[in-house]
Amino acid sequence: MRTHYCAEINEDLIGQEVTVAGWVASRRDHGGVIFIDLRDNDEVVQLVCDPADSKEAHAVADEVRDQYVLIATGKVRARGEGLENPKLKTGKVEIVVDKLTIENRSLPMPFDLDDPKVNEEIRLKYRFLDLRTQRMHNIFKLRSKAAIAARNSLASQGFLEVETPVLTKSTPEGARDYLVPSRVFPGEFFALPQSPQLFKQLLMVSGFDRYFQIAKCFRDEDLRADRQPEFTQIDVEMSFCTQDDVIEVAETLIRDIFNACGMGDKVPEKFERISYEEAMEKYGTDKPDLRFDMPMIDVIDIFANSTNPIFSEIAKDTKKNRIKALKVPNGDNIFSKRQMKGFEDYVRKFGAQGLGYFQYKEEGLKGPLTKFFDDGNLQEIIDRCDLKVGDVVFFGAGDKKVVLDYMGRFRLYLAELMDIIDKDTYRFVWVVDFPMFEVEDGKVKALHHPFTMPKLKNGKLEFEDIEDIKSIAYDIVLNGTELGGGSIRIHKEEIQEQIFELLGIGKEEAEEKFGFLLEALKFGAPPHGGFALGFDRLIMLLAKTDSIRDVIAFPKTQRSQCLLTQAPSDIEGEQLKELGLRVRRNINS
Ligand code: AMO
Repeated sequence: MRTHYCAEINEDLIGQEVTVAGWVASRRDHGGVIFIDLRDNDEVVQLVCDPADSKEAHAVADEVRDQYVLIATGKVRARGEGLENPKLKTGKVEIVVDKLTIENRSLPMPFDLDDPKVNEEIRLKYRFLDLRTQRMHNIFKLRSKAAIAARNSLASQGFLEVETPVLTKSTPEGARDYLVPSRVFPGEFFALPQSPQLFKQLLMVSGFDRYFQIAKCFRDEDLRADRQPEFTQIDVEMSFCTQDDVIEVAETLIRDIFNACGMGDKVPEKFERISYEEAMEKYGTDKPDLRFDMPMIDVIDIFANSTNPIFSEIAKDTKKNRIKALKVPNGDNIFSKRQMKGFEDYVRKFGAQGLGYFQYKEEGLKGPLTKFFDDGNLQEIIDRCDLKVGDVVFFGAGDKKVVLDYMGRFRLYLAELMDIIDKDTYRFVWVVDFPMFEVEDGKVKALHHPFTMPKLKNGKLEFEDIEDIKSIAYDIVLNGTELGGGSIRIHKEEIQEQIFELLGIGKEEAEEKFGFLLEALKFGAPPHGGFALGFDRLIMLLAKTDSIRDVIAFPKTQRSQCLLTQAPSDIEGEQLKELGLRVRRNINS
């Protein structure tokens, strides 16, 4: 229907007749001459409808309103002196229309498409209109480029694309499952996969050597800015590999995707690695944002000498507790007294009992805490934190987990407040050497999933404290976001059984949940491992958007609803009957 896309209309075509097609982005009537900005897939071109050129086209243009669908034919001409629009690719030219057809009309827009402040509910309800904007088109072009680059990269690294089922059995990623009732087996349910984890391991047992898939995953969990109930992973698994082999594949994949998106210069030659322990101790999180440094500094040994009984008590147990300092260079000149008070309120939200601080002035360390330390200890604090006059140093003291968490959050909070994060930087880091287990309220849980290979000693799982066992698991973190993760898997039945035992998963439960995998491990499973990248999160970072909903064509709300289709929704009584289900509206009754 068209001879050119709008973006192709340029000075080379001056004098030529062209036909373009698209939507009316705006229309202006300048006393007789009507100007229309026509937008297609990715650019706007100006149409001029002058009755002196074509009475018919002008009459049609008179009826045109925003977002009508038009096909326009006319000659390209240069815009007049001073009338060029440098913001548009087509800004030097316009089309003088002599034939204009309204292909379709449109109701008035329910919201201003180009106003970024419009309430998200209305944008999601009319997502098909929201997606019509240039901003959204740009994001989805990026997403498509990245997906194609991922396929090409993995194919060229010898990976085979295999699809795995969506109607399946519960998989072990730790969230709640979405369930689908079976009609054939009333009262029985499929689970939607939280990831293709078990199937990709089975494919290794089948000898596929290198598998990948751009896979949909489903998790019923509390949503956040970077979480959706239905999301996409670039999922990878390979056999006869070490952790370094897997990491190399992932780095090549990331580099190829960034290259395809014109951002190759953002990817480092060699990615950094940091141990889980170092990440936690220095940054209070297993997804450290390294775009700025500001590490936490351990001062528990100095505080042990404090005359304050609370600090000295905390400092007695260096395994269970932490006392961490966070230095803010020049903070004394940046923050007011009121702000410092506000910081305490901030950390209290995350379980802090309080937030001590010292200001380093010409005369030495000042602040309510100094009276609990002698001069020698104050000097040690200055030296340990390498303080300069004007610096402020904050302290968190108490239970290790709580202190690391709130001081880590506080580090990020301060960085945002001080605006010291370079938003153009991409800082990748592999977090490695995760603990295999975490113990919460006496219950042992797998930090990754129960198929992760523990680090063995002499080929055996030997340990004194269960929390000291490390796993061969790794996460790739970009700018403080967990982009992906993976592990080397257990391929031997006896180790798998031991892990289940430590997790308190009995033989019967293991058999019931993962029997098919355990069975497969008995039939010559090769050593294998892999990873999955959160594809939506990757696109968020590439497109520099704060909401995962921006990069998913038809996303769910924070309450896991689709406002466009109104899903989830009631189902007919007949359908329920067929499935052998009865619905109880009040789930507490
Ligand atoms: P994991 O559970 O760490 O690993 O998931 C891998 C990556 O998927 C992304 N992700 C999400 N993205 C959006 N919304 C969500 N709800 C969501 N949950 C996870 C994250 C995360 O890093 N099977 C293992 C991988 C493996 O071991 O090979 C797995 O799924 O970016």
